[in-house]
Amino acid sequence: MEHLLKLSSLTPDEIIHILDVADEYKRLHKAGTDPKDLQGKAIALMFGKHSTRTRTSLEVGIYQMGGLGTYLSAADMQIARGEPIQDTARVLGRYYDAIVYRTFKQSDVDALARYSGVPVVSGMTDYAHPLQVLTDLMTVREYKGKLAGLKAGFVGDGYNMANSLMIICSKLGVDVAIATPAAYAPQETYVSWAKENAKAAGSTVTITTDIAEALRGADAVYTDVWASMGMEAETEKRARDFADYQVNSAVLKLAKPDAIFLHCLPAHRGSEVTDEVMDGPQSVVFDEAENRLHAQKAVMVAVM
Ligand code: CP
Repeated sequence: MEHLLKLSSLTPDEIIHILDVADEYKRLHKAGTDPKDLQGKAIALMFGKHSTRTRTSLEVGIYQMGGLGTYLSAADMQIARGEPIQDTARVLGRYYDAIVYRTFKQSDVDALARYSGVPVVSGMTDYAHPLQVLTDLMTVREYKGKLAGLKAGFVGDGYNMANSLMIICSKLGVDVAIATPAAYAPQETYVSWAKENAKAAGSTVTITTDIAEALRGADAVYTDVWASMGMEAETEKRARDFADYQVNSAVLKLAKPDAIFLHCLPAHRGSEVTDEVMDGPQSVVFDEAENRLHAQKAVMVAVM
């Protein structure tokens, strides 16, 4: 793997390999024997959007593996004053062994990869959140013991998390259904890619406005915030548009009785999800957050 910019570039075997390595890193960490597979490696962690989990789990995970992660706020860098991305890329590529970049435009992460000369990993863009959904599938497999043949139901905005979930599930033979208001459906291009993958894997991709359809038979129920970073001005409109798309106890009952609940976090309790679901027995959100550490270690080692 040269870079991890989006999941569409990974084969199913490469994804499974990352999940297997992530499981092993978690096991070794719990045993107190973290392998120093990033010894001597310096990784730039460049963030143009807020972060709690991605930033800290990368910093701690890289430290546990013997490497150095340097947090760089894009707002404090010259890039914020107009330095071109390609010049920033060329400079950071002379100092660091890899770069993680969280920003708005996918094209900026792609440009960083084109010019830096070192591996680049997307820390999330408006299009995709690959580190998150690798973690999510690691978590689902941990709870369900398998992936192929399961069904994931997503309720909410057809945005970067829905895109990435569709792509990764469709590559691994997991049926995926997205329930979203029609105006917020994922872009047709991404749905088409996912359907192509699903055809090869023998699974299905469903886009619907009907939550019951999306969650019928679901093994994993997923949601995300209604107004992602950069959409703050739309918060009130989105709260109205998504009012019927809250994952509450009644909605969770539409899935299988043993379905698990996932959320990439941060959650807006009382909006896309209720306290009773977040804190209920089916919620695995904090195990999911913990797994960021290990899934990301596996990605960093894979791109080195
Ligand atoms: N899920 C996620 O990416 O969390 P942060 O925005 O806190 O990094």
